[in-house]
Amino acid sequence: MRTQIVAGNWKMNKNLEETEALLSELSAKLPDTHAEVIVAPTFINLAQSQRSLQSSTIKVAAQNMHFAENGAYTGEISADMLLNIHVDTVILGHSERRSLFGETDDLLAKKVKTALEKEMTIIFCFGEELEDRKSENHFSVVESQLKNALFNLDARAWKSIVLAYEPVWAIGTGETASPEQAQEMHSFIRKTIAEAYNESVAESVSILYGGSVKPANASDIFSKPDVDGGLIGGASLKADDFIAIIKAI
Ligand code: G3P
Repeated sequence: MRTQIVAGNWKMNKNLEETEALLSELSAKLPDTHAEVIVAPTFINLAQSQRSLQSSTIKVAAQNMHFAENGAYTGEISADMLLNIHVDTVILGHSERRSLFGETDDLLAKKVKTALEKEMTIIFCFGEELEDRKSENHFSVVESQLKNALFNLDARAWKSIVLAYEPVWAIGTGETASPEQAQEMHSFIRKTIAEAYNESVAESVSILYGGSVKPANASDIFSKPDVDGGLIGGASLKADDFIAIIKAI
């Protein structure tokens, strides 16, 4: 049985007071669930978030990190800085970092290498653009993103990898992939991993869907056999919506 995960990517939202208020409400309203629940506040609020959640089962993740140990990388955060505040899970490869900050597959491969060396858990994001899907290149685009950043890893490393398929055209648009589209791509991803590695690795990796997941569509998406949860953006910023999505898994 793969780990089922509902993770909230808060992106650049919530100041310290708003963060503490949302975490307090989530902790109070968190239902009993078999799923792992993760929140990813902004860097500046990570340490306080860890303190606020120390008696909760909700885990804290970072939205990014640099691959270097330390040094002249103005504005960046290292793996050791995250681990120093007991954050051992990191989102890498989000489409906004790829498109807005020029993150390439090669750069992401370096970040993945560092995170694995530090024994962190990686939520690795990838997904096609609308024009890729319209031209029916979405499968080859996704396969290329996976191969270029992850398929150099040995099989054992995959126990530290969570995949998050996020079709870019569904992120923040309200245009969600249908449950059938999500299942089709997740099944393709799992088959691709099985061909590159083996069935055991492919069957054990959790593949999350991200892109306009809301309380109204979550259960249909999560019901698909190769969907192991969601990476939630906008709906993770409201306690009742995020709780409703957790209840849907
Ligand atoms: O990382 C999750 C995010 O990209 C999805 O955003 O607002 O479409 O749920 P949203």
